[in-house]
Amino acid sequence: GDPVDYQAEDATITSGVVESNHTGFTGTGFVNYDNAVGSAVEFTVPAATAGPANVVLRFANGTTTNRPMDITVNGTKVASAVAFGGTGNWDTWQTVTVPVTLTAGTNKIKTTATTANGGPNVDKITV
Ligand code: GCU
Repeated sequence: GDPVDYQAEDATITSGVVESNHTGFTGTGFVNYDNAVGSAVEFTVPAATAGPANVVLRFANGTTTNRPMDITVNGTKVASAVAFGGTGNWDTWQTVTVPVTLTAGTNKIKTTATTANGGPNVDKITV
C-alpha cells in the first residue's frame, strides 16, 4: 500500500527521551537516544498482507561519528549495525532505507543502538 509514517515520539522508547530542541523534524518531536549500547525505539507497524517492505528511517546525527543500529522485526535481527553517519548538524535530517519482510498483522520494528554513543536522533520511519 501507500507509505505510512510512524513517528518515533509515538513509539515505545527504551533509554531515550522525546525532544524538539532542533529544527526540521516531522510530527511533534524526535527521539534522542541515550548515549548507551541498547538504547532503542520500537515501532508498531500493521501490515494487511505478508511480504517485502522498505523501512525508511529519518534521522539526524550532528557528530562526525557513525551511530550504528541493529534492526529487528518481530524479534528477529534483519540488519546488523546499519550505519547512521553524520548529517552535518542536529537540524539536518537524512534517510536510510532498510528492506524487511513483514508478517500479516502487527509487526514490531525495533532500532537498537550498538555503540556507547547511542543512536542518532530519530524522527520517524516510513513503511
Ligand atoms: C546533543 C544534541 C542531542 C543529541 C545528543 C547526542 O546533546 O543536542 O539532540 O541527541 O547531542 O549526542 O546524542
